[in-house]
Amino acid sequence: MKRDLKSDQDFSAEEVRQIFQLAKKVKEKQKKNEPHEYLKNKSLAMIFQKPSTRTRVSFEVAMTHLGGHALYLNPNDLQLSRGETIADTTRTLSRYVHGIMARVFSHQDILDLARFASVPVINGLSDKFHPCQSLTDIFTIWEKLSYPEKFPNGFTIVFVGDGNNNVTNSLLLLCARLGINFRVGCPKKYQTKTEILELAKADFSKSGSTAEITNDVNQAVKGANVLYTDVWISMGRQDAEKRKKILVPYQVNQRVLSLTKKKTMVMHCLPAHRGEEITDEVIDGPNSIVFDQAENRLHVQKAILIFLLQPKSVVNGGLATPAPK
Ligand code: CP
Ligand code: NVA
Repeated sequence: MKRDLKSDQDFSAEEVRQIFQLAKKVKEKQKKNEPHEYLKNKSLAMIFQKPSTRTRVSFEVAMTHLGGHALYLNPNDLQLSRGETIADTTRTLSRYVHGIMARVFSHQDILDLARFASVPVINGLSDKFHPCQSLTDIFTIWEKLSYPEKFPNGFTIVFVGDGNNNVTNSLLLLCARLGINFRVGCPKKYQTKTEILELAKADFSKSGSTAEITNDVNQAVKGANVLYTDVWISMGRQDAEKRKKILVPYQVNQRVLSLTKKKTMVMHCLPAHRGEEITDEVIDGPNSIVFDQAENRLHVQKAILIFLLQPKSVVNGGLATPAPK
């Protein structure tokens, strides 16, 4: 049975831990210049309905390092632009490639791709979720904490800004699964949807961590171990000027950072709109780990690809040696 990564609820907590172990191993191999061709002769189709720097480049480079090959597909160049259905496109692609990664406007397109593909489908960002990002983010925190067995009790990620976007939703679901507290400081108008909180409810009660939403930014950031933000106007969103006005009090700046702990890690999925959701001083300051986070997209992407496209490589949470044929 093929598996997909449509949202953060497709992998169990145990599987996420396996992905983190795999990412750590492939990162070590890359740093030592050791080959890690676990996807030799495999191909990945990458459909991008929206622009991308990190997702596109990290997936493409990941496939090359893993001994495979990635194809960048712009929907305007595909017959999709002339009315061929997603179903027919997907059934055709499944005959050529071993996996499909897609960045789409509507999350329904990810669900349709997954339904009609006979190969794994990976969500490279939809309007609702960005699971490759959240997996990388929590992996980065795990790495900064020196790979603990469990996240420390009370460990809290605080997201400040647009509480109703793909990155916030994915972080919330993954925190629920892994037992990390998640707090959102956002305006009432751009608050995390009840539907997302409902989705995460069972995981929060199972893992014992909590979700909190507050409109008071000072209250939100108190005791944060991680301070996270993202753009105010996600790709495909309207009303830029109105959104900017409402979100001004939720900027991550030196004043907001000073309300947190001394060692609070500052994160951003990038691209950043400097001077809007985050100031230069904070994103370039000593608490910021944004470029380690960006680098880790590559290592975590490799782990996701191995896990889904070559599951027989994953042995006892580690990697088979040598790579299976
Ligand atoms: N964070 C992220 O997904 O970046 P790109 O939009 O550049 O892919
Ligand atoms: N929320 C942002 C994330 C970009 C990686 C967007 O959807 O544009």
